[in-house]
Parts: sequence; C-alpha cells; structure tokens
Amino acid sequence: MVKKKFLKIVCEGSTEVFIYKNKEKQKGPGNEEGIPFFNPSMELNRDLSILFGQWLVDNSKGKTILLDGLAASGIRGIRFANEIEGDFKVVINDWDEDCYKLINKNIEKHNFKNVRSCKRNINALLSEKKFDYIDVDPFGSPVSFIDSAIRGIKNNGILACTATDTATLCGVYPKVCLRRYGAFPFHSIVMKEIALRILVGLICRTAGAYDKGIQPLISYSSDHYFRTYIRIISSVSNANSSMRNFKMINSGEYIGLEKTKQDIGPIWLGKLQNKNIISFLRTKIFEKKLKTKNSLWKLLDLIEEEAEGPYFFYTTESLASILKTPLPKLDVFFKKLKKQGYMVYRTHFSPTSFKTDASLNKIKELF
Ligand SMILES: C[S@@+](CC[C@H](N)C(=O)[O-])C[C@H]1O[C@@H](n2cnc3c(N)ncnc32)[C@H](O)[C@@H]1O
Repeated sequence: MVKKKFLKIVCEGSTEVFIYKNKEKQKGPGNEEGIPFFNPSMELNRDLSILFGQWLVDNSKGKTILLDGLAASGIRGIRFANEIEGDFKVVINDWDEDCYKLINKNIEKHNFKNVRSCKRNINALLSEKKFDYIDVDPFGSPVSFIDSAIRGIKNNGILACTATDTATLCGVYPKVCLRRYGAFPFHSIVMKEIALRILVGLICRTAGAYDKGIQPLISYSSDHYFRTYIRIISSVSNANSSMRNFKMINSGEYIGLEKTKQDIGPIWLGKLQNKNIISFLRTKIFEKKLKTKNSLWKLLDLIEEEAEGPYFFYTTESLASILKTPLPKLDVFFKKLKKQGYMVYRTHFSPTSFKTDASLNKIKELF
C-alpha cells in the first residue's frame, strides 16, 4: 500500500489524481529524485488526448478499449475514465512497482468499474493483447515501443505517440537520429516539421512491415515534445499507398528557403492532419472542463488551417533577412498572395510561419 503521507492530490481537467510528493524519496524509475513521474507541463498534451478519446469513443462501434501504456501515476488513463463519456474500457499500465501501486490507488480513489491496472513491460503486453487506442508517452524517444504498438493495435485503431527527444529529431545529433529513426534530419528553420515527419515516417515504415497503412489525424510540435495521433489500417493496399508517401529529399532540393546540402529523410510526405477531426475537437473544447482550453483552441485553429497546406513552410523573418527588407505585416502580405490567387496558411510551427502554393520567386516578388 502507498502511504497517504507520501502523496498529494493534483487536479487536471475535472479529475483529482494522487501523485507522489516530490520531496519524498521513493525508489523506482522516474525523475531525478527517483519517484514516479508527473510532468505538469504535459497538461495540454493530456487535455488533447481527452478530446481525442471522446471523438474516438463517439465514433466507434462497440466498446472501445484504450491503453495508457506508459502511465507513471496513471493520470492520463484516470482522466480518460473520468472525463470521457460513452462505452469504453481503460487499461493503465506501467512496469514500475511504485507506479503500479499509485495507479491502483488512483483507481481505488475513484472507484472506477471500467478501468484495469497492469504491471507489464508494454512490449510484452502488446504482443499478447490488442487495443483500439494505444498511448505511448515515454521519457525521450518512443522508438523502442513503435513495433509492438503497431502489432498491438486493432484494425483502424489509433496510435497516439509522444517523442521528447526533440534535439535528436531536429538534427542537433544527426547520428543519433539516423540510428534511432533511420533518417537524416535537417537542422534548419523547418526542422520541427521535418522532425514530426521523421517520427510519422518511422511509424509508416514500421506499419508497412506488418502490411498496415497509416492515416495521420493530428500531429503537432510543442516546446519540448512532438506528438501524433495516427490511425493504423490493416490492409496491403493501404500499406502500399502509405509507403508512397515515405520518401527521401535529395540534396540540392529546396525545403522552404533552404537548399539542402545533403539527403534528408526518408520522411513522411503525406498529410499530417485531418481537418474534419480537428474541427470536431474544437467544438468539444468548451464542453469539457480543461484548463488549457485557450491554448488548445489556438493550437487546433492553426493545425486545422495548415491541414490543407503543402509540406514545409517559410517564415517572414527568414524572408526579410534574405531579402534585406523590413518585416511586413503578416495579414497584409497574406492578402497580397491571396489577391493573386494563391493559397496561404498560417502554421503552428512558429508565429511568423506560413505555407503557400506560390513559387519562391513569386513569394519574394510580393514580399
Ligand atoms: C514519461 S513517463 C509517463 C508519463 C505519463 N504518461 C503521464 O502523462 O504522466 C514514462 C513511464 O514509462 C514507464 N516505462 C518505461 N518503459 C516501460 C516499459 N517497457 N513497459 C512499461 N512501462 C515502462 C516508466 O516507468 C515511466 O513511468
């Protein structure tokens, strides 16, 4: 049993959850102090998974089975159980003894009937059981969980995956990126989009090995992590069509404003977002009690806008610096592009970034 004096309660969404008090030493993996991990800055990440889970349950036939596979305190799974409405079951798993005890304490606190805890190596669990939704939220890179997650997902199920090894994916450590993700990154203005596409690319390639295709539904970058929600479809033809979007970018090609000096990728060059799902989630934001609703709204607004845009983006800052001109007002510049019949989309990657179907020469001319 976990002694109450080691615990404190945090409230996220509309759910109270026990976590360990930081100052108390507890053994087992976790943060520096060796306690089960709880990162308050991941609240938006978890809030979005609540909205997404609601969409999934609303749009599934029969009972949806959700796995919080690397659960730590279990906060995400506990919140699923408390904040999602409908017919579903949650399995909350962590291989660490202290986490497992805490997860059970949290289940007990709420007296949930549709939640089960599990103390397994997620890779072993996913070799035995299948789920409609698998959440992989590790410390650092998710690479060691992707293969089992692809095998453990039901047809048309969702893999939700976080990567916090942002420096590696953004090209600060290209050798590490090549080893982990099998791709050459590109440390540049567009590195965050390349990073997301490397992550999705790995999922596409792994799914392909099992004759499964992918459909990314929501993908985004934040300060300290990348996150993607991907539908996994068991079908050879889907696997083949997905693999057609898994490509290299040859050296000498332009990515945004930059000419590449070496090959980049292979990366996912298909869509990263699904506009319909994103607009549904926006309608749900104000139906749930979420502290991050304003930030979530802004994020979803931007990824909905960029959903239809081409891959890669420009920033007005980099254009101004190349062209040695002052920064124009974004909306004035966008109006000029639109007036000439071009599409222009803001993106969530940076406040000055935009995607457009205009050629680089045209962009420079109008800038
Ligand atoms: C970053 S924490 C998870 C945070 C949690 N999802 C949240 O929202 O607070 C990662 C957790 O994964 C667990 N873990 C690492 N490798 C595992 C494995 N192979 N099987 C099961 N759990 C594992 C660790 O014990 C740790 O608690």
